Amino acid sequence: MPRPHYIAILEGLLQGCRPDRGSLTTLFDTENPEELAALFEAAYKMKLRYVGRIVRLRGLIEISNICAKNCHYCGIRGSNRVLHRYTMTREEILSAARFALDCNYGSLVLQAGERCDRSWIEWITELVREIKHLSSGQLGITLSLGEQTAATYRQWFEAGAHRYLLRIESSNPELYAKMHPADHLFARREKCLEELGDIGYQVGTGVMTGLPGQNAEDLADDVFFFRHHDVDMIGLGPYIPHPHTPMGRRLIARFNPAKALLSARKMIAVTRLVLRDVNIASTTALQALADDGREQGLLSGANVIMPNMSPTANRADYELYTNKPGLDENAAETRAKLEQAIDVIGEKIGYGEWGDSPHALGKRKVP
Ligand code: 5AD
Ligand code: SF4
Repeated sequence: MPRPHYIAILEGLLQGCRPDRGSLTTLFDTENPEELAALFEAAYKMKLRYVGRIVRLRGLIEISNICAKNCHYCGIRGSNRVLHRYTMTREEILSAARFALDCNYGSLVLQAGERCDRSWIEWITELVREIKHLSSGQLGITLSLGEQTAATYRQWFEAGAHRYLLRIESSNPELYAKMHPADHLFARREKCLEELGDIGYQVGTGVMTGLPGQNAEDLADDVFFFRHHDVDMIGLGPYIPHPHTPMGRRLIARFNPAKALLSARKMIAVTRLVLRDVNIASTTALQALADDGREQGLLSGANVIMPNMSPTANRADYELYTNKPGLDENAAETRAKLEQAIDVIGEKIGYGEWGDSPHALGKRKVP
């Protein structure tokens, strides 16, 4: 039996109550199957109410796996020497963008490790301009290129990018400090998010769930952090140990995929119940843990999927975590599989639209 108190919290959220930390902690702190079913059902109801049964697509292009940083959990961290480093050519990227346009994806994401050198900044600026030009402004462009100066963010915005993803990984500064070298600062990350919003980007952030030492209070605080920063998009996923990283080496033997997947689904559900009208991605990391992981994400409250459009040859080298799915597929196969999977759960793809969240549209100033 679900506890009446648990159901009352869900009903309160569905009626628009502002939750306190204790209520969210209770929602996270359960393994009771009936309570979990009620949580996912409530989140799905909230999703239908605010964003409908339409899945928004963002074609993902992993343009380079070169990274100047060294996050302790990440497979493409700068110090990982057993990794072939690549950067896609301009032609490869533009042809992936044309594929997105032909598939009617409406929107794409350029993602890479973090680099702040001048030649990189200028190259990205030029690419954004060219993608805007080749699609006559039709393709929405999201960037996910790490921490940059406000001037760089502005330059890319003026070139035509309109959304930016920058995860905080955890809103608990102590956890953040444990997962990163001493010069990777949480305060700097938070400042970047504020600068991105001030410039006019739709801002996305997110966390990893199932981190060592992370508890239900931390997850509740993550959700409050999202709300406090009034973000438009959330990209969250389970932490998955990677063997060539300091954290992964320590944790891989004890890793429990089912538990990790559940931690991410709970976070998606609670985020949907509290933030309501934002876009929430069902990330590839979910699919790494179960074949239908992304569908489970959609059924827990997510409404965005980022199909991989990177050339097959590069996919294995963009290995943030182990068991990344789709390594042997090309972009067309990825698309076909996705359509089928979405159909099975009774949802539809929103083709040919930028798919901005109702939250972001609500902020747009009326001229
Ligand atoms: N497991 C899950 N997600 C990871 N990321 C990096 N490494 C891992 C991992 N081992 C995520 C981080 C980062 C994004 C680029 O990928 O959240 O922000
Ligand atoms: Fe680089 Fe991002 Fe990986 Fe950190 S998480 S090492 S910044 S790609």
